[in-house]
Amino acid sequence: MTKTFALDPRHSAFTDAADRPAAQHPQSLLDLPPGEARQSLLTVHSILEAKLPATDLKIYEAGGGSTSFLPLSVLKRAHVTVVDIDEDQIRNNDYAQKTILGDIQTHRFAPDSFDLVICYNVIEHVPDVEAALLGFCQALKENGLILIGAPNPRSLSGVVTKYSPHWFHVWFYRHIRGDKNAGLPGCAPFPTHFHPLVTLANLETFADRHGLQMIYCKQYESPRYPEMRRRKPLFASLIDAAAKVMNVFLPGKTDVRHGDYHVILRKR
Ligand SMILES: C[S@@+](CC[C@H](N)C(=O)[O-])C[C@H]1O[C@@H](n2cnc3c(N)ncnc32)[C@H](O)[C@@H]1O
Repeated sequence: MTKTFALDPRHSAFTDAADRPAAQHPQSLLDLPPGEARQSLLTVHSILEAKLPATDLKIYEAGGGSTSFLPLSVLKRAHVTVVDIDEDQIRNNDYAQKTILGDIQTHRFAPDSFDLVICYNVIEHVPDVEAALLGFCQALKENGLILIGAPNPRSLSGVVTKYSPHWFHVWFYRHIRGDKNAGLPGCAPFPTHFHPLVTLANLETFADRHGLQMIYCKQYESPRYPEMRRRKPLFASLIDAAAKVMNVFLPGKTDVRHGDYHVILRKR
């Protein structure tokens, strides 16, 4: 079973990040409803602030749209290079200093180029995640970090997303999430593949084999749940009830609502 571990939420840096005024947080964090996803992203921010060098930073964003999930304190002193396969997504990006239209599975940088690689809401869309991760490892400096944010395939939303057709994802975004642009060029949802390495246990084995230490791993309730409770309370209460029944029959403290995870890997 996958180990899940996290910094103590009483960690002082965590408290500092949580207590900051809104103007000091990126829009991606402000857009998250209060809950586990927001809390984990705050912890991620604290870890990045504590572990990244206090100098100018080189960051590789693998698959980047218009939203940065990085803390502003990191973003302000960073040179960000984005690689994305979608022209519209490249055009939408306004925080990267360099944008490259390319495929993260095959695009390669010189070794030791970056302090941080961020791949957020992307690996589930990539057919060959191993090739992409190997590219990240090669491009990373020693002690450099990889931040991955992804859906958990072993969750209710993960199973539904993995085994349902793309038109259903578009319907969900349009009618449950209320995103009128869903499915238009350059707009979410993007087609999913769910390569085996998206599963946390496999990602952890890959990390061990490739000299990467998992310094943070947290599965959390997908922000879709609080979003649904607010927008579609009846639909949300049906899903919540179904999730509770599933949890009763699953071993340990499994919560099928843990639809997403954050992982931070450090190159040894
Ligand atoms: C769901 S979006 C996430 C964008 C951004 N990271 C965020 O969280 O807002 C997925 C992104 O991955 C990009 N993508 C998918 N497959 C890719 C590949 N093989 N190489 C580069 N980018 C890819 C898509 O074009 C899209 O911009």
